[in-house]
Amino acid sequence: MPCNCCEITDNAFSEDEARSELRNYRKRGPAKQTKLILQAIRSLGLRNAELLDIGGGIGVIHHELLEDVADKVTHVDASSAYLKEAKAEAARRRHEERVHFIHADFTNVASELPKADIVTLDRVVCCYPDFRRLLKAAAEHSQRALAFTYPRETWYLRVGFRVMNFFQKLRKDPFRVFLHPVAEMDALLKREGFERVVLRRLFVWEMALYQRTAG
Ligand SMILES: C[S@@+](CC[C@H](N)C(=O)[O-])C[C@H]1O[C@@H](n2cnc3c(N)ncnc32)[C@H](O)[C@@H]1O
Repeated sequence: MPCNCCEITDNAFSEDEARSELRNYRKRGPAKQTKLILQAIRSLGLRNAELLDIGGGIGVIHHELLEDVADKVTHVDASSAYLKEAKAEAARRRHEERVHFIHADFTNVASELPKADIVTLDRVVCCYPDFRRLLKAAAEHSQRALAFTYPRETWYLRVGFRVMNFFQKLRKDPFRVFLHPVAEMDALLKREGFERVVLRRLFVWEMALYQRTAG
């Protein structure tokens, strides 16, 4: 799909938002849905793992997992503002040598990237129209596990997302949020050789951990 998603997403996430997210993270630690991903990944007992964090934002997942589970990280993000803050925090934690930062729409660069043990997408599929393309490419890059969070298919989020997209349209901002069908995402990952081993729910977000069962 020829797409200017990177440009659209880059415009959607401002430097102010990125700075404010980093301040919150430093003050309060990871957000609730991110903690679910971290717990799920840690429950696998992996060490010295390679992590591919897609749409990692300010980099919370790798700032945390480089302390115990991960050895090397690739962080691909469509937002230059978020990447800037992620790099600054990685340097502050002396992790910069272990993280490869790439500014891109993951689906455009996936074929050039190596596989990783773990792939994560925290609140990313809901920013991207073509979830099939994104999740398939993500799954193809995971040798062992894939964890992601996405908005739940509830009536209140359907209404909320419609309202948000209505205001985006009024503002003539092409960025949209998406409530993708969970059953289809699950079926796609199963076809790619994964099984779901953990499912946790919050009011807005659901977190699913998948493990590879077949090559
Ligand atoms: C809502 S933010 C979430 C950031 C972070 N994962 C978190 O939970 O705090 C969505 C992030 O996904 C990135 N993103 C969305 N679609 C992407 C794609 N196709 N490739 C790379 N990054 C993408 C955006 O640039 C943004 O940083």
